[in-house]
Amino acid sequence: MSEHQPIHLSDYRPPAYLVKHTELTFDLDPSATRVKARLHLQRHPEADAGAPLVLDGEALELKAIAMDGQALEADEYAVSETELTVFQVPESFILDTEVEIAPKDNTALEGLYQSASMYCTQCEAEGFRRITFYPDRPDVMATFATTVIGDSGSEPVLLSNGNPVERGELPNGRHFATWEDPHPKPSYLFALVAGDLKKVEDHFTTMSGRDVTLQIWVEEENLNKTEHAMASLKRSMRWDEEAYGREYDLDLFMIVAVNDFNMGAMENKGLNIFNSAAVLTHPQTATDATFQRVEGIVAHEYFHNWSGNRVTCRDWFQLSLKEGFTVFRDQSFSAEVNSAPVKRIEEVSFFRTAQFAEDAGPTSHPVRPDSYIEIGNFYTLTIYEKGAEVVRMLSNLLGAETFRKGSDLYFARFDGQAVTIEDFVTCMAEVSGLDLSQFMRWYSQAGTPEIDANGEYDYANATYRLTLRQRTPATPGQPDKLPLHIPVRMGLVGTKSGRDLNLTLDGQDLGTDTVIHLREEEQEFLFTDVAEAPVPSLLRGFSAPVKLFFPYSREELAFLLANDSDGFNQWDAGQRLVLLALDDLIAAHRNGVEKVMDPRVVDAFRDLLSQDTDDQAVLAEMLMLPSEAYIAEQQLLVDVDAIHAARDFVKQSLAHELRDEFLTLYQENQSAGAYAPTPAQIGRRALKNVALSYLMSIEDPQAITAAKQQFDADHNMTDVRHALTLLVHSSRGDIADPALKAFGTKWAHDPLVMDQWFTLQVTRPQADALDRVRYLMQHPAFSLKNPNKVRALIGAFAGQNRVNFHRLDGEGYRLLADVVIELNRLNPEIAARIITPLTRWQRFDEARQDLMKAELERIRQEKLSPNLYEIIEKSLA
Ligand code: ARG
Ligand code: ZN
Repeated sequence: MSEHQPIHLSDYRPPAYLVKHTELTFDLDPSATRVKARLHLQRHPEADAGAPLVLDGEALELKAIAMDGQALEADEYAVSETELTVFQVPESFILDTEVEIAPKDNTALEGLYQSASMYCTQCEAEGFRRITFYPDRPDVMATFATTVIGDSGSEPVLLSNGNPVERGELPNGRHFATWEDPHPKPSYLFALVAGDLKKVEDHFTTMSGRDVTLQIWVEEENLNKTEHAMASLKRSMRWDEEAYGREYDLDLFMIVAVNDFNMGAMENKGLNIFNSAAVLTHPQTATDATFQRVEGIVAHEYFHNWSGNRVTCRDWFQLSLKEGFTVFRDQSFSAEVNSAPVKRIEEVSFFRTAQFAEDAGPTSHPVRPDSYIEIGNFYTLTIYEKGAEVVRMLSNLLGAETFRKGSDLYFARFDGQAVTIEDFVTCMAEVSGLDLSQFMRWYSQAGTPEIDANGEYDYANATYRLTLRQRTPATPGQPDKLPLHIPVRMGLVGTKSGRDLNLTLDGQDLGTDTVIHLREEEQEFLFTDVAEAPVPSLLRGFSAPVKLFFPYSREELAFLLANDSDGFNQWDAGQRLVLLALDDLIAAHRNGVEKVMDPRVVDAFRDLLSQDTDDQAVLAEMLMLPSEAYIAEQQLLVDVDAIHAARDFVKQSLAHELRDEFLTLYQENQSAGAYAPTPAQIGRRALKNVALSYLMSIEDPQAITAAKQQFDADHNMTDVRHALTLLVHSSRGDIADPALKAFGTKWAHDPLVMDQWFTLQVTRPQADALDRVRYLMQHPAFSLKNPNKVRALIGAFAGQNRVNFHRLDGEGYRLLADVVIELNRLNPEIAARIITPLTRWQRFDEARQDLMKAELERIRQEKLSPNLYEIIEKSLA
């Protein structure tokens, strides 16, 4: 039997002992930090009187232990690799422990670690047990008082959760700061930061008139990169008051930027810790996409203060309770402060590519999993993004107003508690009177549901019969699925008028846009008084996270692209039209037949280009071809080379046919004036840069000059990076190489820009990409210990450079496996993430399957962390 055993939701038991209050003292030292913990413990009312006290603890050296002031004898307790047990304890008592830990050797970046010279923590999900012995589970909530002792010179700033209450000097050049957090919290929300940091400060007045001090702490050289995050934070605080009635609850809110961080950011109470890539921006160093990402993540972490912190999860199976809800909240916020249709298009196109792939792969799991080996592996697109889609469906089912009543009830009823997904859904059912029992299957069933739709218009009776059939494919551990409750938003677009027709169903007038509810395996909807033959517009706004199949002709898709009143479905019709053309071209490529461009696609694009639009960002999305990854997602057997060739062919054909239009578009949307990350400017840049991409695909001489000029103009990072990427991905090394070199020299001091410099090189389609990866891994700016670097170089190559990663000689797979093996020792969480492309072998041809599996087997020979063990075993099952 393996040492790595699964944990099951059905085994959940309340904790035997609760912690009422936690006092911590950290005496910081890189290799010998001392942590004293005083826990005020109390037996759970339902626990056995004789229950021993069992605390979690990993990689801790116990130095002292005492109960109610009495040192414990050696036979009164036991310490294992993962636990400290005290055999006999009273009903209520104080436990003192002192442990030693070594932050500088902590390359896993969980618990207390060093990032350059600063100290910081990451405790979610189970990092606190690497700091001290503790009931490290979210249903144990305590108030905290934390004293941090550090070196006055190298750690002038000492931070923790809550409010600062005391600070002072100590002998030997040391000093201390004490913090108190009055809000009971689970250990995963604990945070500590110490180092030579500088702050930017601002203020926010809450809806009840309280003043909150806002601070962003960074290294000195980054002080000029905090403005956007601060503005985003204030917008988020206001929005949460207005949209959800949620007010901030401390006098101080801090954000810290850290260079070495496994994830995007962390919502620790009052002290959010951010990956510097998710908080720092400057027009010269960050792209529009980064500005928008920062806004979204700042909002996300802030929103957790209520959805996650004030009301938290009972156990980690409920992770989506806080993550799905909070992603939904940050998406709603971003949609309101930006172009809403573009946000939705971006969300869905990412979701359908990445989450669908996860849900169809070997690690597919429900939004609420039944079991896990390593919870760190479950911070997934399914928990976050599919969880958000499920909350979005609830919000749509209830309507905005009732949903708000439900969320008010949820926060009021469960404030200060650790609860479950049922608790959340029950509130929604109570306020709406809806029966959500079938809906709950969204949380328990994995896999992407598929809907087969068919429609028939009856001229004689003026009726339209829509038939919907649903099925959810089998996923690991779930061979049989039950029908889901699927809300399908739809309209019928009249082919004569080009307008949405009135919808009458069972004699009821439903207006021109409605939601029909698919609950059975198969259901028929008979619309009456349908005045003209319609084309159905189904799943508007992506009203449910499903795959929808309807046998649209290309003419019908072109029609919807031109006429659908739903912007999202308009975009989707365009994507579907291109996908049909791509299918033919992929087949032609495989059969060695000459490729012919579908003129209907060219016409549709010409129409798009000739329209007057006031939303450049939407038009840019419409002009973008589906990514290779999304095209692959549509194929039963993925042929990476054919997909690449077919997509290139479409791009080049469109560029040839519509050269002048693209050139005009490029020229008309030039950047002028000072950079600002406003939706209008972002839209113009997106549109201009899409046009340039098309023109560069045929290496049009004017485009090359334009790209070179755009790079040299150095107006903002969005334009510079885009131009440089296009040049580096072209055959014009004579222009690209000096530009690349100049860029690398100019930004050698800025790790976040160097990340971009790495990514744009290793994503180039040319055959030398893999050699570049190996070469750049030796670059002084690269380090396997820095997760951002690993993602920028290895992650980008394996995830975005499909033709080169899937090389038939297996070198791409070998390279990834080599990295995974090293990371297994250094940083298990990152190892288990970066390996993802190798786990998706099932969809490729036999030769590639064998090569990928061989690498997985090679990794399997190592002494694996639980993280990788779980992923490898599931992938090879
Ligand atoms: N709760 C954090 C967020 O969603 C992410 C924490 C991820 N932790 C982890 N061990 N994967 O913002
Ligand atoms: Zn989150």
